[in-house]
This record gives sequence, structure tokens and C-alpha cells, in this order.
Amino acid sequence: GSPFLAYRGKELFLEDCSLDELAGRHGTPLYVYSQAAMLAALAPYQRGFAGRDHLICYAMKANANLAVLQTFARAGCGFDIVSGGELERVLAAGADPGKVVFSGVGKTRAEMRRALDAGVLCFNVESEAELEVLSQVAVAEGRTAHISLRVNPDVDANTHPYISTGLKGNKFGIAHDGALAAYRRAAELPGLAAAGIDCHIGSQITTPGPYLDALDRVLDLVEAIEATGLTLQHLDLGGGLGIRYTDEQPPAADVLIGSLLQRIDARGHGHRKVLMEPGRSLVGNAGVLLTEVLYLKPGEAKNFCVVDAAMNDLMRPAMYQAYMRIDPLRQRDETPVTYDVVGPVCESGDWLGRDRALAVQAGDRLAVLSAGAYSMSMASNYNTRGRAAEVMVRGTEAQLVRERESVADLFKGERLLA
Ligand code: LLP
Repeated sequence: GSPFLAYRGKELFLEDCSLDELAGRHGTPLYVYSQAAMLAALAPYQRGFAGRDHLICYAMKANANLAVLQTFARAGCGFDIVSGGELERVLAAGADPGKVVFSGVGKTRAEMRRALDAGVLCFNVESEAELEVLSQVAVAEGRTAHISLRVNPDVDANTHPYISTGLKGNKFGIAHDGALAAYRRAAELPGLAAAGIDCHIGSQITTPGPYLDALDRVLDLVEAIEATGLTLQHLDLGGGLGIRYTDEQPPAADVLIGSLLQRIDARGHGHRKVLMEPGRSLVGNAGVLLTEVLYLKPGEAKNFCVVDAAMNDLMRPAMYQAYMRIDPLRQRDETPVTYDVVGPVCESGDWLGRDRALAVQAGDRLAVLSAGAYSMSMASNYNTRGRAAEVMVRGTEAQLVRERESVADLFKGERLLA
């Protein structure tokens, strides 16, 4: 949970704003974020790296709202991007492209060109084939692409299989055994300059072990690579630190970074710049999704609480069977009843929470917690539902930072047959 989200009397507040009041003003479904909670989540990263050459690259896929990007840019962060669209968002937020690392297994030539022109810090390259193409594009543009190879350390992050990325047999990164040859190839290719090495082993990781294992594997590679006469400057250890959705106890970022730096120093790599790419842990517990109860539908096997938010607004429960806590915006004194909280979309998978004890009536509003990460950023228009509005609160102030999508927005660009 977040210290910024708490009941005052029977009413749920985010910072100094009543969420029921915000839902009344802006309608539901509504995402609301706390800027103070985001900065408070960033602080242990900054503390962990204090006095060291480092760059915290917020993985903006977690939440790409421009006001969120602006918040992290002003706090000195760089960004981890995975598409040309994300690059345009970074630029629109007024952030420094020189602090951007560009990840992803399928960068197009057009995306590479735009990123080279913008002057990104580094391309995190995921295959030898991508190296060849990036070299061609860089030469054609008359620029040098600074690169890091994403290596696959083959460690198990012990997380959901869909968000585990560091094992052999998934599409990400270059196999440990192939990394040395890939760096040699990169050194031969024109237009490329090796800057570092990176890995990312998965997401919602709740123990330090997998990070330290991955770090050891990466440092083994760095030593092997440098033994051939090549040099690398930075180590990018990716993102992945988990948050508390229910009873998880992930390490604090400063504690994790402390052990990583200790290992880096112990192995004689203390002179290197260290990058990390946190997403979820910077924003996950800084946001909530507000929704209104439309109908209560008691049944023989189950009671359903039908709300106006759905899987198109928040896909994590449907996609990963993720648990996200659900609390009322105003507490009632009645005895709670067990409900499945479901949305209006025509899929049995459209649920937000199962078997939740809630004292609610139609017209009440609920908050789905920990919805600052991978929530709005994964929203779709399925069932021709407009995407929710987003609000950022700062103390007693609340600012709309994205308008609700209108019906006209929904089929903008479509054409009837002639
Ligand atoms: N760096 C790279 C290369 C990544 O692929 C990711 C996330 C991150 C950094 C940030 O990881 P984080 O700190 O947020 O764990 N949609 C899923 C999570 C997918 C994560 C994808 N990659 C979910 O809702 O759980």
C-alpha cells in the first residue's frame, strides 16, 4: 500500500483529495495518481545510487501519461522506451533524449532513424540481426549508434511466466553463450560504438537473489568481453522490482541497490556507470482506478458486483489473474457480502476481483488499488469503450491530465465503404 492513500473518517483520500469527490467531478472509470507517491517511490532509488555515476531510466511502458513523464524528467530521470511512440511522448514531455535507452526486440528502421536523430543515449540491442540493421541505418544517417547488448542471463526470476524474461527459450535478449561473438561483430560494423551491457530478467520480482545471480552472469561476460580488448562503460541492470499488491514483501530499492553495488565493487567494477530501468515500482502504488457500482446481482453460486470499469480499462486481472485490492470510496457500516467484481464487457474473463468482501450498494464507488502501473497503459477500446480520464493530485490540488475519450475519438479515422 501507499501512505498517501488513507481513509479520513469513512472517506478514502489520495494525498489531500477525496476520491469520491474526484469521481463525482470527472466521472468514472477514472485513474487518479499521486505525484508525491511517485516521488516517494523514486527516493530510495536515488538514495541507493547517491554519490555514484548512475542513471535511473523510468520504464515508461508502465504508465506513459505525459504528466507522469514530466514528473520523472524534472526529478532527473531518464527513460527506457520500447517504441517510436514512446520516444515522441518523451519529447512531448520536454525530457532529455540524451537520457533515453531504447529497448525492444523489434525496432523498425524508421524508429531507429528517429531515435538517432533525437540523440538517444543507447540502443539496447536484442539480436545480431538488429545490430546489422542498426549499423546500416546509422551509416545512412551519418551518425554513431551507441549500443548495449541485452544479454539473457538465464536466471529464473520466480515470477508469472508471462512477465519472466530472463530464461532461455523466451524471445528476449542474446543468449549468454552468443554475447561475446555479438560484441565482436558489433566492433566490426561501421556506425556502432559499444557503450554498455544490459539485462532485464522479469517483472514483479520480490527477492534480491535473481538480481544478484543475473549480475554475476553479466559481470562474467563483461570480463570475457574486455579480455578481448573491447571496452564497455555502463551496466544496465533493467527493471523488475516488485511492489506490494497484497502480502508481497519486496526488498526496498535502496537495499537492493546497496547489495548490487557491493557486488559490483567486490568484483572490481566500481568505476562503471550503473543504469536501472524501473517501471512498476515507481508508479504502481501511486495510482488507483475509480469505478461506480452499476448493479448488484446475487446468484446461487456467486454474487456479482457489476461496475462501470472493465478489462479494457484494467487488463491485469483478466490477463495474469492478478490480484489487485478493491476498497470502497466511502465505507458503510453494513455487513460485507462476498462478490466477484466484474465489468460490462462480454467476456467471462472480464473481472477485476474475485471473492471480495464488500459492503456496497448500487451507485457506490470503489477504488482498485495499485493501478498506477500497467493499467491505463494497457487499456484498449474493446467493446467500443472509450478509455478513462486521468487525474494527477498534488496535495489538495487535482489536475485532469488526460481527457476521457469521446465517442467521436473512438471511430476517428474509420471510413464507410464508398
Ligand atoms: N526494462 C525492460 C527491458 C522491460 O521489458 C521492462 C518491463 C522494464 C524495464 C520494467 O519492468 P518493471 O520495473 O516495470 O517490472 N504488463 C505486465 C508487466 C510487463 C513488464 C514488461 N517489461 C504486468 O502488468 O504485470
